[in-house]
Amino acid sequence: MHKKKLLIGNWKLNHSRASAKDFLDSLKGRLKLEKTDLAIAPVSLMLDFVRPELFGLKLCAQNVFYEEKGAFTGECSAEQLSELGVEYCIVGHSERRTLFFETDEVVAKKTRACLRAKITPVICIGESLAEREAKNTNAVISRQVKAVLNSLPSMVAEEVIFAYEPLWAIGSGKTASLKDIEEVHLLVSELISKVLQNFRILYGGSVSPQNIAEITAIPLVDGVLVGGASLQADSFLAMVEKLQGA
Ligand code: PGA
Repeated sequence: MHKKKLLIGNWKLNHSRASAKDFLDSLKGRLKLEKTDLAIAPVSLMLDFVRPELFGLKLCAQNVFYEEKGAFTGECSAEQLSELGVEYCIVGHSERRTLFFETDEVVAKKTRACLRAKITPVICIGESLAEREAKNTNAVISRQVKAVLNSLPSMVAEEVIFAYEPLWAIGSGKTASLKDIEEVHLLVSELISKVLQNFRILYGGSVSPQNIAEITAIPLVDGVLVGGASLQADSFLAMVEKLQGA
């Protein structure tokens, strides 16, 4: 099956309404939208605000809570995100796993909540530097992937996306080597293809206009999850052009 490549710009806790609008205004009419899937992930407060300005870019949330409703102060549900037109949702980003103590079990519940609301989950997995140096990368990745897979029904028709983001590559300017990326993507693909029919595997961690072409040329890399380099319109555009081979 030919899969369209996907680029998601994860804005994290950045951009005001004014700067988000400037970003979108300056890209309008300059992106080819048929060749690839392109999405931005603004803070949840801004999802509703950017939605009418998207001209075909897709909307991604950065986080979700797993219950549908109830006494969960400060949270929002997948159903509520879906009402805002959200198509993708990042789940278990390493910043959430480390700063907000999200466990594999929570990540699995959030994945199920997204599927329940017809939102495509983008599940982040990745090893720390210490885990890589101790040669535990495969064990960590397998544990993180299996925690999600084991909680899903036996065959899932909806798309599920995994994003391999080595922790030490995020925001550091260091990317994993092409060989390391290929090896982990192969492992993930072998694990998930037994359960999932429809999946993509992204790479994330210091992706930039300089390295996106070589990373996305790896056959098992179906796209990228980009933080820092997705914040400025010029750099977002440069990455899209490289991704599309322009
Ligand atoms: P980065 O972030 O591109 O700034 O390394 C990636 C991410 O955290 O998703």
